[in-house]
Amino acid sequence: MPPPLSSAPGVVRAGFRFRCIACGDLGERATQNFRCSHCGDLLEIIYPDWKEVSLDPASLKSIWRERRTSQSPIDLSGVWRFRELLPPLENAGQAITLREGNTPLYELPQCARITGVPRLYAKHQGLNPTGSFKDAGMTVAATFARLAGFRWVACASTGNTSASMAAYAARGGMRSLVLVPEGKISWSKLSQALDYGAVTCQLRTDFDGCLRLLQELVLRVPVYQLNSINPFRLEGQKTLALELLEQLDWQPPDHIIVPGGNLGNSSAIGKALLEMHELGLIPRLPKLSVIQAEGANALVRTLREAGGKRLVNVQAETRATAIRIGNPASWKKAVHVLEATGGACEQVTEIEIAQAKAEIGAEGIGCEPASAVTLAGLKKLVKQGFVKPEESVVLVLTGNLLKDPDFTMEFHRGDLFKDGVDDGASAALKPLRHPPIILDATLDAVIQTLEQAEKQQA
Ligand code: F0G
Repeated sequence: MPPPLSSAPGVVRAGFRFRCIACGDLGERATQNFRCSHCGDLLEIIYPDWKEVSLDPASLKSIWRERRTSQSPIDLSGVWRFRELLPPLENAGQAITLREGNTPLYELPQCARITGVPRLYAKHQGLNPTGSFKDAGMTVAATFARLAGFRWVACASTGNTSASMAAYAARGGMRSLVLVPEGKISWSKLSQALDYGAVTCQLRTDFDGCLRLLQELVLRVPVYQLNSINPFRLEGQKTLALELLEQLDWQPPDHIIVPGGNLGNSSAIGKALLEMHELGLIPRLPKLSVIQAEGANALVRTLREAGGKRLVNVQAETRATAIRIGNPASWKKAVHVLEATGGACEQVTEIEIAQAKAEIGAEGIGCEPASAVTLAGLKKLVKQGFVKPEESVVLVLTGNLLKDPDFTMEFHRGDLFKDGVDDGASAALKPLRHPPIILDATLDAVIQTLEQAEKQQA
């Protein structure tokens, strides 16, 4: 029998409701496609009891800290450790966990020099069990899928969601169905889904096409959809911000910068910041900014061309395949958190992404291309004066370097921008390239190479 869930003294865990983000309709249950049955917009999870049970910030901080010394699986999870702010479980054994979360917050001294922002940090979500931030959301959503009695879970994905979903489904004894755009996701991500036993379909369309199809599928067959349209996902992903603030001793940074694709993650982090502020866990709100690839800039255009009032969708194209999304599902939620925190939204070029990725790599940390938009975006925000040199900045690195080895190899070999990119701009990348060197297996050849490398450094 799993042990009952403990809670902090004086901390009562709250129930939750689904609320439509457009018409405000409240419900105890969600529909299969997680859309409002009245107006069709997205649902969010809210906790009406929070007002009545008055969650005490000091007690919450202390119980979350104490749990770091516990050996129980649910406390070892960097997500469920914050369970007072999540949909409640009846007992600890219900959680499907791979010890997600508890990711490091690194200083970035070299990138700090490059950007002129000395207090620059990276929250590396790529160090989660399947190598991306998706695990934080997946532990919660997969848990509730199993509690709802589903045998099958499904997602459309640019790769990371599918890897994560397949892993959590496997751990939880469920089957998983993956829909990915054919030829447009990295082999590492695809191979993860295969190994974790997913039924993996490479569809001849893009991510947006896969998601459209999934939305229809869940209305026809009893599969539980685990895209970030599913509000349980966003509840789990909120804990990134809780953990970050705990690591900063609850002193908010001035800026948090996150990549934007389907816009679930920015919405989740923003929701966490607003909730923390409302509960008195933090004294002020950091500005949350979203960065997109220029070729997949739906949110940028939605804000610039339509004042954030209607979605301007785009035909997405970028080598940062994780964010190759033209019709982001959570755009309204993202517009809301950008407005509520006073954040900015910017776009960066393919060359800027490649350069920033190599610069993060040179810190000994590394990340996948989509994560590097954060550093590229920061450079722009500093130039515009939106981020000031004396302010503190946290970049959210969403995926592991090993997620897209093809991109990294092509970059270092000088093959990434062979076709149709301005040579002037790509010349800036040259000093960052470290291509592999093929040599005869002789001592002389290796020593000569070492000497040459030493000269180049000097
Ligand atoms: N970074 C990485 C590494 C991602 O995999 C994604 C999204 C994002 C950023 C963007 O996050 O969609 O919440 O705005 N990947 C999804 C997937 C779409 O299917 O793996 P978002």
